[in-house]
Amino acid sequence: MQNLQMVDLYNQYLQIKDEVDTAMQKVIEKSAFINGYAVKDFADNLAKYVGTKHVIPCANGTDALQIAFSALDLPAHAEFIVPSFNYVAAVEVGAFLGYKPVFIESEADTYNLDASKIEEAITPHTKVIVAVHLFGQCADMDAVLAVAKKHNLYVIEDVAQAIGAVYTSKEGWAKRAGTMGHIGTTSFFPSKNLGCMGDGGAIFTDDDALAGKMRCIANHGQEVKYTYKMIGINSRLDTLQAALLDVKLKHLPAYIEKRQYAANYYDKFLASYPDFQTPARNPQSTHVFHQYTLKLSEKIDRTALQKHLQEKGVPTMIYYPSPLHLQEAYTYVGKVQGSLPIAEHLSKNVLSLPMHTEMTDEMLKYICEAVVRFIK
Ligand SMILES: Cc1ncc(COP(=O)(O)O)c(C=O)c1O
Repeated sequence: MQNLQMVDLYNQYLQIKDEVDTAMQKVIEKSAFINGYAVKDFADNLAKYVGTKHVIPCANGTDALQIAFSALDLPAHAEFIVPSFNYVAAVEVGAFLGYKPVFIESEADTYNLDASKIEEAITPHTKVIVAVHLFGQCADMDAVLAVAKKHNLYVIEDVAQAIGAVYTSKEGWAKRAGTMGHIGTTSFFPSKNLGCMGDGGAIFTDDDALAGKMRCIANHGQEVKYTYKMIGINSRLDTLQAALLDVKLKHLPAYIEKRQYAANYYDKFLASYPDFQTPARNPQSTHVFHQYTLKLSEKIDRTALQKHLQEKGVPTMIYYPSPLHLQEAYTYVGKVQGSLPIAEHLSKNVLSLPMHTEMTDEMLKYICEAVVRFIK
């Protein structure tokens, strides 16, 4: 089988080449490369799509988190609660700003943060919960929002992997990922479900005051040119990237369906092989499958499986090979080996299969057969 990739950005581009080339050519002709018209158009369209009042474009998903944390004006020694089985971005920016990450456990089947573990992690210093919607489905936001309300905490949703996912609350409302807490942050890294041709990010909020502050921080702390109201950074979404993203946003619903189709295929094929536990779906959230991640039984040697698949031309990835609480940079927080057993177990046993918008039945069949052949 030729050309199996974890993501296939070039073939995705070829499907919409004319639209993308036209949109990018228009930016080049106008040569308004910084904060050009496409940045505002895309932000407006994205705000409509996700259902938020404000979208603040910025340079990447990590900056989005940094700007979000900065806008909250947290006291020194503030603590934020964050899952350890996670990408590093939220943890590093919070820690970089001087706040303490308090790592919590994840759910063994959905891989999302275990909201039932939040309350016991709260101290008088806790100010923020970072709800990461990992791999493409929403965390248990009813529980996150309830505990945040009870303890008067901010909720930042990290939507980098779950843009477009819809969460339906037990109260009856349905909202897209990133619009349930105080602030949502996302990334347009090329491999993301809505990805550009470089770096990009955005912040969502319904709060006018926070929006104004975050726009100001992202723009060197200025509302008026050369007048610095607060300490800021330079974090912009390029006009070329915005023009591309505006085109791709129109295709996002179809992209999500393609990912869901591939996930359903994997689910069905692998359902009868308990050694390859397929990802559980949170019944309250749609899953947009940024990743399709299996949990392997203890019987499976993950390295040997990866090698077997590689020999058959099937790429795989491990997201994430170590929980953050055991990474050298974060051992100062004081969580030792064994303190978050599910996060630790997941890091040892997960394996992500190729997942993108250009997958064919032939590819999916080939990958599934290659996986099960490992135990046959
Ligand atoms: C969950 C999560 N948060 C944040 C980020 C950071 O995004 P960026 O790479 O655009 O800074 C990523 C990117 O991989 C991510 O997966």
